Amino acid sequence: MSILVTGGTGFIGSHTCVELLEAGYDLVVFDNFYNSKPSVLDSIVDITGKGFKFYHSDMNDIGDLEKIFSDNDIDCVIHFAGFKAVGESVEKPLMYYSNNITGTLNLLNVMKDHNVKKLVFSSSATVYGVPKKVPLTEDMPLSVTNPYGRTKLMIEDILRDLCVSDPEWSVLLLRYFNPVGGHKSGLLCEDPNGIPNNLMPRILDTAFGIQEKLTVFGNDYDTVDGTGVRDYIHVTDLAKGHVNAARKLDAFRGIEAVNLGTGRGYSVLELIKTFERVNNVSVPFEFAPRRPGDVAECYADTKKAYDFLGWKAELGIEDMCRDSYVARVNHSGRSDEE
Ligand code: UD1
Repeated sequence: MSILVTGGTGFIGSHTCVELLEAGYDLVVFDNFYNSKPSVLDSIVDITGKGFKFYHSDMNDIGDLEKIFSDNDIDCVIHFAGFKAVGESVEKPLMYYSNNITGTLNLLNVMKDHNVKKLVFSSSATVYGVPKKVPLTEDMPLSVTNPYGRTKLMIEDILRDLCVSDPEWSVLLLRYFNPVGGHKSGLLCEDPNGIPNNLMPRILDTAFGIQEKLTVFGNDYDTVDGTGVRDYIHVTDLAKGHVNAARKLDAFRGIEAVNLGTGRGYSVLELIKTFERVNNVSVPFEFAPRRPGDVAECYADTKKAYDFLGWKAELGIEDMCRDSYVARVNHSGRSDEE
């Protein structure tokens, strides 16, 4: 029996593969390397000392999926594969809908044909839209503001419909808050192809001199210091949440959404200051107007994650800042040339 991990060489996918292998699961992984690099596979093996089956394939190729399910005895699927850049999704909505929605439908159809009905889906706190109040609980109203977010919510809806139609499915929708950090070995980190949009990769680019100054979007929010507050979560904690989710799939039928966050918000300035302190580096910044679409505060209510999955985040903001930095320092020395 194996777990199929789609998008297993991405940032969250690769850390999850490590935690699953260390928990003793057999893995089948696939990725098309659209937003990741083949060397991640070696890093996973180096960290865990364990091997797994890998397919360089695409969920848009139904033949690829058929082959994976025919070749392997898959018990459940953890589905990370998908495009995830908000700005790009606004520019290229069809690309996002085609890849994320069609790819997921292909996966679900093949799963159904092979009678595999256990799924963990990589959702996002983006499905809460503009929060009316914080902390966010899973039963709050859902809405989205861009095509990327819409693909997450559409897939959640598709999965809810599927579970109504067939009570044999077990589906967990994991709503991630703001993943940061890297593996403590320094061998895995967030390494997107192209220019990063999220805060931590931009802090790193500034600390490394790749960009001269960090732009802080907005210092007039109604928050502790005027800058935006988010629930940053260490990617290793997030990955461990998937191990609990995989275990839970055997114990229930139906569909449940679960927040994966720490329950604690930090402002942009708090994150910068902590990063500078723990890594003894400087991150010059300047204020700019608010980024359109941003909210003042967003953090999770984590009660359901604890009660339902028996999971809670263990690592703090210092760990997140240190491990993000160490992974980037280490990573700059590694080559992906083939
Ligand atoms: C962003 C996306 C969200 C997505 C999430 C996952 C937008 C509007 N939202 O969320 O849909 O699910 O990433 O990765 O893009 N910030 C700066 N300077 C920067 C970058 C960010 O000040 O250069 C601030 C932002 O204004 C925000 C905080 O840092 O207050 C976090 O930003 P970011 O890392 O982009 O995450 P989200 O906005 O929460």
